[in-house]
Amino acid sequence: MSIAATTTTKATTTEATTPSSFSPSLGLDVALSTGLQFATLPDTSFGIEVTGVRWDVHDPEVVRLLTLALRRNLLLVLRGQPCPSEVQLDAFLRQFGRLVLETEDGAAHYSGHRNQGGPASQMAIESKQYMDRSADNTGSTLYAPGTDGISELVWHNDQSHRPMRKVVSVFEALDVEPGVTPTEYRDLYTAYETLPTSLRTLLENRQVIYFDPRLPSPADMPRLADATHPVFTPHPNTGRRTIYVNDFADRIAGMNRDESDRVLAELRTHIDATAPRLVHQWSTGDLVLWDNIGLQHRRGAVPGGQRRYMRQHGGLAE
Ligand SMILES: [Fe+2]
Repeated sequence: MSIAATTTTKATTTEATTPSSFSPSLGLDVALSTGLQFATLPDTSFGIEVTGVRWDVHDPEVVRLLTLALRRNLLLVLRGQPCPSEVQLDAFLRQFGRLVLETEDGAAHYSGHRNQGGPASQMAIESKQYMDRSADNTGSTLYAPGTDGISELVWHNDQSHRPMRKVVSVFEALDVEPGVTPTEYRDLYTAYETLPTSLRTLLENRQVIYFDPRLPSPADMPRLADATHPVFTPHPNTGRRTIYVNDFADRIAGMNRDESDRVLAELRTHIDATAPRLVHQWSTGDLVLWDNIGLQHRRGAVPGGQRRYMRQHGGLAE
């Protein structure tokens, strides 16, 4: 559906002073003053495209609409807006909740990661390194494949290896070539809602164990877990339950290794068969926000020399 179609279908006025237009993509009246337009994405059951975002306009109605859009569609593709500075992006996202960076957990995590230098986008383009930190240190990480490329990233929720969950993830294409390696998403809410009763009963009230992949393995540095989360984690705002088990999960707490491996294999078979998917093909300037509780993401290997400069913002905490 085209963006134009979303704005011309119906014109209505919710209040005498608030002209609005019905957006069939969002299913709501959108105040014209917000400048926002919503359009469905082709061939997918979740995700929605948003144009008209202005970083320096802090409007409660924009926050309300984007929050509703995220709840309903799980993933927002922001397109056509200028590349925000780190400060602009932080200030914009603060309207929606706590920045991970500004939590105790996030501050500890990011405190050693400051770089000195120019603006974030310049650093990504000039450094051509696999990973870099932003000059302003808002918790953003910059990625470029360099000459060696980057290996595949398996299905995951961002920072599931940490006790504090990230509710919203933010990823932006600063400068990418056509046909660049896409990011794939899948909807674990639907996978939960279609679980067979046997698996649901078996895993109810269970916890799943994660280890931080950047730390030594438990064999080298013995410990019980770096984080545990409910297998069926409810979204902290909506209460909707998802399967918070991704390809970094170690095992189900309270089960022996063989039993856990069997159950996790069964669960993964179910997820592969039922979780709706979305492949996002990046264009320069795309900024994608998604529900990091209910959606998992992955990407294939990125070949060396591919122009794929990306910025990952620290995101929003629960
Ligand atoms: Fe990720």
